[in-house]
Amino acid sequence: MVRIGMVVALMFVLACSSRPEVTEARINNPELGKGFPEGFLFGAATASHQVEGGTDNDWTEWEKGTFEGGRPHILHEDQSGLAADSWNRFPADVGLLRKLGANSYRLSVEWSRIEPEKGVFDEAVLAKYQSWMQQLRAEGITPMVTILHFTLPRWVSDAGGWESEETIAHFVAYAERVTGALGGDVDFWLTLNEPNVYAVQAYLEGIWPPGKVDQVAAARVLANQLHAHGKAVTAIRAADTIDADGDGHATRIGLAHHVRIFQPSTGATLDGTIAAITDDFFNESTVAAVRTGRVRLEVPGTVSIDEPSPELKGSLDWIGINFYTRDHVRADLGDPSLSKQYVPEDRPTNDLGWDMYPEGLFLVLERFAAEGLPLYVTENGMADNTENGEQRPRMLRSHLAAVELAVERGIDVRGYLHWSLMDNFEWAEGFEPRFGLFKVDFASPEKTRTPTAAVKTFQDVARNLGLTPETE
Ligand code: GCO
Repeated sequence: MVRIGMVVALMFVLACSSRPEVTEARINNPELGKGFPEGFLFGAATASHQVEGGTDNDWTEWEKGTFEGGRPHILHEDQSGLAADSWNRFPADVGLLRKLGANSYRLSVEWSRIEPEKGVFDEAVLAKYQSWMQQLRAEGITPMVTILHFTLPRWVSDAGGWESEETIAHFVAYAERVTGALGGDVDFWLTLNEPNVYAVQAYLEGIWPPGKVDQVAAARVLANQLHAHGKAVTAIRAADTIDADGDGHATRIGLAHHVRIFQPSTGATLDGTIAAITDDFFNESTVAAVRTGRVRLEVPGTVSIDEPSPELKGSLDWIGINFYTRDHVRADLGDPSLSKQYVPEDRPTNDLGWDMYPEGLFLVLERFAAEGLPLYVTENGMADNTENGEQRPRMLRSHLAAVELAVERGIDVRGYLHWSLMDNFEWAEGFEPRFGLFKVDFASPEKTRTPTAAVKTFQDVARNLGLTPETE
């Protein structure tokens, strides 16, 4: 049976062919950003395992391993190791934010540090994170805290990770503890980062730990994360009753939803259908679950999940959109993902081969505005491996122009957090792709940070928002 979600998905896939234009005039407008609403959060994002260094979690062993046939799990056999050493260099990172003129920073806290053993919470770690939040607030930088950005403590992954229903309760207990401890300085929470990406990379593509290729497990993992999100929100609202910024809300809770555009590669019915199934699973099911209070995941022939989850309803105060790219979809029923996804050769791409498609950001904002919740772009960026990051300024301006177009059309977008503040450990791709506004010299003991060309771009827009970048 074709579900409503799939119809929505199909309509979206079709709508993407009549695209609005992010014009050159908009992109080059010296006033770019002046159209953003009062109080717009403008900043950058990172995640604990990718920048902190010194973490010990389910990735630690994985990073040393190889796939059958000997290919290393991580490109060039990189290991996260000290990463950008933010664990020891946080005050300097706040300096980078000041330099940008950012008024917000999205960062995650590391579950494996906070609860290294089941039920054992490390107060010193929580105190350290608390001091970070206080430093940010002292600088007028609103912290947006992701409670879980992919990496699991070993005791969680050893017990089955997100395939196990027990992880739901463990996550809720952890979220309650974190938000209770940091709530005096944090109002903006994201429960989970990209439950859909996690399910696909770790359980369908098999390129992240635990490296499974199993459609049913992937769906279970997505479903369990969604249940966990709903229950965690109830716990967070009870645990964090302190309104840190005095705006009348002790918590503003979202999750980071990664949205990709899946464009059928031809007009053939099969390509359109597979693109719609993919869109439904990846883009639609998470928000539909929050809208309806039911987790429904369906892949014809293999997956059929329909479970009530009443706490999901009303669980989001806002939706975080992580947007990067568009895929063309050619049906391939022999592939675990049912298709081959690719970027046509004539498209501009970044250094990971992703289609650079700013109009896509507009389309995605327009689509999710229909949920009636404020939207924040919680990630958007590109891998740019040129010497000084010469491609990023245009990428940044064009995607901000898409956000501005959305605001002009009445869409309630309240923030933009660029991925990333600095170069970091890009999961299976290791340290090669450079996502940072600041370049990190990973070989230097100081992990030296150097501004890329886009820092000036960011500062220009920040000034248009009335913010004050720090210049020496
Ligand atoms: C993800 C994450 C980030 C990535 C970023 C660039 O999408 O995997 O949220 O951790 O580093 O998106 O790929």
